[in-house]
Amino acid sequence: MAKERTFTMLKPGVLSRRIVGELISRLERKGFAIVGAKLMRISRPLAEKHYAEHADKPFFGELVDYISSGPVIAMVLEGDGAIARLRSLCGSTRVEDAAPGTIRGDYAMHTGLNVIHASDSPASAEREIGLFFRPDEIVGWKDGNDPWI
Ligand code: RTP
Ligand code: MG
Repeated sequence: MAKERTFTMLKPGVLSRRIVGELISRLERKGFAIVGAKLMRISRPLAEKHYAEHADKPFFGELVDYISSGPVIAMVLEGDGAIARLRSLCGSTRVEDAAPGTIRGDYAMHTGLNVIHASDSPASAEREIGLFFRPDEIVGWKDGNDPWI
């Protein structure tokens, strides 16, 4: 499986719930390497760009309001097959379908407040990493010949 980079974001509410550490622990425990990280508040224009694919959906306004409503932690994660594996760890979009053991299954009660974003394809990952990080804000690293990542 080829090494990939993907974009993830701990959504608004995670900081006030004091579960940032728990959620990052779950990403690390799986084996992803954090190669970019920042705490930020997303502007409305950036939120609209990030979720542009949903511009014509009825929930777009609420989605943009929510994602720009408070601080988030944006990250770039690296690992074998990282894009699909992170989606799998996050769980289904609809909380009704998010299995226990997934991050959404364990931490979310509402689909609109589903705790974590993860890029859904290689093209989305590349686009979203470029929206949130300058190239010099991404720091690749390798821990010896670590077989876990
Ligand atoms: P995300 O982009 O946030 O990682 O979530 P996702 O890929 O699993 O789901 P997506 O289809 O991209 O939808 C983006 C976010 O919009 C909210 N949503 N609400 N009311 C609804 O039917 C509905 N559908 C989606 C969710 O918060 C979802 O994460
Ligand atoms: Mg999505």
